Amino acid sequence: MKEPSQNEDTAKKVHIQTFGCQMNEYDADKMLAVLRHENYFHTNYQEDADLIILNTCSIREKAENRVFSELGRLRKLKSVNPELKIGVGGCVAQQEGESILLREANVDFVFGTDNLFELPEMLNKVSQGQKISQTERHPRQKIRNFIPNYTFQQARHFGIKAHLTITKGCNNHCSFCVVPITRGPEVSREPEDILAEAQQLISVGTKEICLLGQNVNSYKANGVDFVELLHRLDKLENLERLRFISPHPKDFHAVLADAFVTLPSLCEHLHLPLQSGSDRILRGMRRWYTMETFYEKVALLRDRLPEATLSTDLIVGFPGETEEEFEMTMEAVRSVCFDLIYSFKYSSRPGTRAAEYPEHLSENEKSERLRTLLETQEEIVQKKNEALVGSIQEVLIEGKHHRKENTATGRTRGNHPVSIINSATKVGDLLAVRITGAQPNSLEAEPISTSTDSG
Ligand code: 5AD
Ligand code: SF4
Repeated sequence: MKEPSQNEDTAKKVHIQTFGCQMNEYDADKMLAVLRHENYFHTNYQEDADLIILNTCSIREKAENRVFSELGRLRKLKSVNPELKIGVGGCVAQQEGESILLREANVDFVFGTDNLFELPEMLNKVSQGQKISQTERHPRQKIRNFIPNYTFQQARHFGIKAHLTITKGCNNHCSFCVVPITRGPEVSREPEDILAEAQQLISVGTKEICLLGQNVNSYKANGVDFVELLHRLDKLENLERLRFISPHPKDFHAVLADAFVTLPSLCEHLHLPLQSGSDRILRGMRRWYTMETFYEKVALLRDRLPEATLSTDLIVGFPGETEEEFEMTMEAVRSVCFDLIYSFKYSSRPGTRAAEYPEHLSENEKSERLRTLLETQEEIVQKKNEALVGSIQEVLIEGKHHRKENTATGRTRGNHPVSIINSATKVGDLLAVRITGAQPNSLEAEPISTSTDSG
């Protein structure tokens, strides 16, 4: 259904296709918010669209290649509908800029990660037949001012879960990572703006907010640090669950571990990206912690909250990684027993330090290591999930199971996906359940109480 403010005669349709990380999902919401002011509404179908935006990711080469093959596919659509405008935003656009216009004649405009608020001006020029490449970086203050100008009121979806960006960019310069190049230095949003946005999300039914940033725990603005921000958000009425991704292990301290115990809304789940189990590789990655300190950080959390879940990111086949060093990553995985790992084959990114390192491994070696890692992790998770059978968990209902009748799906506070059988629930309900079964990727449960939902 269209919104009343939309002008029926001039409304246009935009299709935004997002690749990559949560940060990009968030940017897509912002783009839509901006475009709503220009009388665009979203369509799920490329064929219907007057404007298609590819919101790109360059963190690994695979994601980048997908963008160019998608642009190739779009040639056909443009030949059928020459009025169609095509834009490329996000990290690939930030890095490649004008060369995308040269490589793909169908692309009308390219814009960087700081430039999405300039979409109206760009579209105006594009409608006059100009080709635009706008990837200029803005000073920090200007970005700070941009962010709150558009609210989530016009955003694509505000379900019961929302992502809220608190920092953009990164100052860390891990040697493998393109983010500091594509997203620039770290900027923290004003706490007042974050709280106002959170309040607004809650007022439209959001129950769970996940704070986003490349390195959330280095957040600092107006004298407010990350833990203080968590405290302030926790006080907001009707916010049931608070999460954050991703903290950097070097900045994970006892005060933050304490917050998991003292703040009722903060879910008992920590994503702590390890990347490698070898101190030598961690040095080469410029991660600034050792395995010893990583284990200490894990203990900080587990001493306080033994039931907390832990997830991590791991890279296999970093340049020069020996069999023994890969085995150290395996050892770390076996001893920490993460509940979930996101594992990646090292992907060489232009402009990063590690791209210049010698001894790059072959694709086959990297694939073999990834396979070994995933096999071991699957066994660990199966055991950990089986140990949860019989336990009572709180689940936030997110929807209906797409295959199973009469079954709802949701997540525990530890972030386990759960299907709840024979459950008459609605989205947004908080439900106490008993875990009855365990698969490697999900849990099964039955309700043990009626909804605790207040609204
Ligand atoms: N190659 C492989 N994985 C990478 N990541 C970031 N850059 C690369 C790269 N060049 C992974 C890291 C990071 C996650 C978001 O993506 O594990 O934590
Ligand atoms: Fe990239 Fe490292 Fe910054 Fe994460 S902390 S975004 S891996 S540079």
